[in-house]
Amino acid sequence: MSSALTITGGVPLQGTIKVRGAKNLVPKAMVAALLGATPSTLRNVPHIKDVQVVTDLLSLHGVAVDNDGQGKLHLDPSNVVRAQHADIDAHAGDSRIPILLCGPLLHTLGEAFIPDLGGCKIGDRPINYHLDVLRHFGAKVEKLDSGIRMSAPNGLHGAKVELPYPSVGATEQVLLSATRARGRTELRGAATEPEIMDLIAILQKMGAIITVQTDRVIHIEGVESLSGYNHSAMSDRIEAASWGSAALATGGDIFVEGATQADMMTFLNTFRKVGGDLDIREDGIRFSHPGTALKPIVVETDVHPGFMTDWQQPLVVALTQAEGVSIVHETVYENRFGFTHALQRMGANIQLHRDCLGSTPCRFGQSNYVHSAIISGRTELRAQDIHVPDLRGGFSHLIAALSAEGVSHVTGVELIERGYEHFTTKLEALGATFDVANS
Ligand code: EPU
Repeated sequence: MSSALTITGGVPLQGTIKVRGAKNLVPKAMVAALLGATPSTLRNVPHIKDVQVVTDLLSLHGVAVDNDGQGKLHLDPSNVVRAQHADIDAHAGDSRIPILLCGPLLHTLGEAFIPDLGGCKIGDRPINYHLDVLRHFGAKVEKLDSGIRMSAPNGLHGAKVELPYPSVGATEQVLLSATRARGRTELRGAATEPEIMDLIAILQKMGAIITVQTDRVIHIEGVESLSGYNHSAMSDRIEAASWGSAALATGGDIFVEGATQADMMTFLNTFRKVGGDLDIREDGIRFSHPGTALKPIVVETDVHPGFMTDWQQPLVVALTQAEGVSIVHETVYENRFGFTHALQRMGANIQLHRDCLGSTPCRFGQSNYVHSAIISGRTELRAQDIHVPDLRGGFSHLIAALSAEGVSHVTGVELIERGYEHFTTKLEALGATFDVANS
C-alpha cells in the first residue's frame, strides 16, 4: 500500500510525543534471542516495519514470536528449523537485518541463507565486511543467484578480526557470531555506538563474556551455551533528534518523552550551537526554537561519539532556517545528500560539493562522491510535491513541508514507517495540519 500526505505548512509543531525502543537496536536484540537455549523477553519495542520483517524471518526459522501489542515481545527459540529459501527470498529487499541472522543460524543449524538485502539507498552499502567476518569464524560462503548460502558443519571458532572501518553492522556480526564460537575472539576497529553497547548488555545477560576496551578493541570469550534475556530496549536517539530538528525547522516546541541525554550528547551540543533551547529532564528532553534567529554551524558526521549520519538530514532542514552559511560534511555514507534536491526545489539555497569541506579528510574525498553541502540561510521554504526517497531523507521532507508556506503533497510516506513509530499520530498531537490518502 502506498500512502501520501497533503500537508499545509507554516504551523509550528508544539506538544509532547513519546519515543520507544531504537530501530537500530530492537531488530538485532530479536536476532540475539536465536542464540539462547531458553525464551527471551524484549520490552519497549516500537511498532515499526523492521520489527515485523524480523518477526517474519524468525518465525520462518521456527522461533515463536509473541507480540502483546503493548511493546513486549516474547521470543521462544526452542524449535529452530531450516527455512525454505523461497520463503526467505520473499523478504528480499525488505531490510538489512537478515545478514545478522547468519552467525546465530550457523551455530544452531550449521547453515544459513540470506536474500538480497534492502535498506535505504544512501550509498552502495556493501556487505563485504560481514562476509569476511563470517569467513574468519570458519563459515563457507557461497553466492547464489537468489542470495547467499553459508555453511559451517564443524561450527564456528573464535578469530582475530580487524575492521577497515568501524562498521556498526559488521561489529554486531562479530558479537552475534563470537559469543558462542569455540575460543577467544579479538575485534579491532570496532564500532561503539550506544546501540552496540545495548546489544552487548543483552548478550551479557544471556551469559556472554565480552570486554570493551577504550581503543575500539573488543574481546569475546566464547561460551558453550547462552540462556534467554529479559531486557528493555534503549530509546531511539535518531527519532528523538529528528523531532528536535523538526522543532527548530518549524519554529516549534516539542517535548520528546523517552529521549535520553547520555546517548545524544553530540546532538544536544550541536542543537545548542544552532541556537535551539533545551530542557533536559529525567523523563525526556524539550527541544524548542528560541524565537530569535538561528545560527549557522559547521558539522561533520562521524561514527560514535561523533555526530551521527542519521541526525544529518533533519538538521539540514533546520539549517535552511539559520541566518548565514552552514557547512555539512558527510563522512559515513558516500551518497546521503540526494534528499537536498527536493529542498532546493522548495527554495533552499544548498550547494553540493565533492570535496571534504570539513577539518577531517574522509574516505570519499578522493573518490568523486558528492558528500559535502553548503547551506545558505535563511530561506523561506515553498510548498512542493515530493516523493520520499529513503527513511531519514523522507522525514526531512516531511518537516520541510511542515515548515513551508502552502500545501505540499508528499508521496511514498510508508517508507517513513520503517523507523518512525505512529508518526502521523504524533504529527496530529503536535498540531500539524495534514490529510492522509492511501492507494
Ligand atoms: N560498509 C562497507 N562494507 C560492509 C559494511 C559497511 O563498506 O560490509 C561501509 C558502509 O557502506 C558505510 C560504512 O561502512 O559507508 C558504515 O556502515 P555501517 O555498517 O556502520 O552501517 P549499517 O550497520 O549498515 C547502521 C544503521 C544505519 C546507520 C549506520 C551508521 C541499522 C539497521 N542501520 O547501518 O541506520 O546509518 O549503522 O550508524 O542499524 C537509518 O537508521 O536510517 C540507518 C541507515
